[in-house]
Amino acid sequence: MSITIVDHPLAEHLLTSLRDRSTPPPVFRTLAKRLALALALEAIRDLPTTQVTVETPLERTTGRVLGDLVAVPILRAGLGMLEAVTELFPEVAVGYIGLERDEASLQPQSYYRKLPPVDGRHVLVLDPMLATGGSGSAACEAVKETGSPATIRFVCVVAAPEGVGRLQRDHPDVPIFTASLDRGLDDHGYILPGLGDFGDRLFGTE
Ligand code: PRP
Ligand code: URA
Repeated sequence: MSITIVDHPLAEHLLTSLRDRSTPPPVFRTLAKRLALALALEAIRDLPTTQVTVETPLERTTGRVLGDLVAVPILRAGLGMLEAVTELFPEVAVGYIGLERDEASLQPQSYYRKLPPVDGRHVLVLDPMLATGGSGSAACEAVKETGSPATIRFVCVVAAPEGVGRLQRDHPDVPIFTASLDRGLDDHGYILPGLGDFGDRLFGTE
């Protein structure tokens, strides 16, 4: 189990604007997509590739291609990261997991699940916020119930130590890729300093 903090200057720049409470939803969406692109690139850095032969206009040569990828955004907020992944990898298969945290218990309630075959594929679970880790853990569980993926990687914008610990305990095989490991959680399960409610800020529902 590992955690990778993507500390590229552009990622830090984008994250700072996402944290800024004055960033309005249209800008928030654009920045979230750009940051997701940087995170996804890092998340697939060590993906195995396969050698293939191609004909250039001049001669035959070899190159390497990626294996089958599956992206699984956790609804709603994970949708803010999906477009970056589908643009980077147009052949990606996409599954959806709908989870909403109960405000009092902080337990994730499942309301939707539609996953493609995952056997032998590399799965990127997308959720910008890893807070208590309940949602992330449930999503990885759902992927594993569906089949036997080659790998599962959890890609988020901000992680809290509590969520990292939970995911490490429940799914030690799932590495985490994030732009920041924040300080902790408040009494309502919000990440500190965090960036507030990602889904609300993304969709203008706050
Ligand atoms: C947020 C976020 C994660 C979850 C993280 O979703 O997008 O899915 O909370 O919290 P956890 O780590 O404590 O489970 P939320 O339940 O607010 O739903 P939304 O995406 O529809 O806004
Ligand atoms: N979900 C969010 O959107 N933000 C947090 O800080 C925690 C959970």
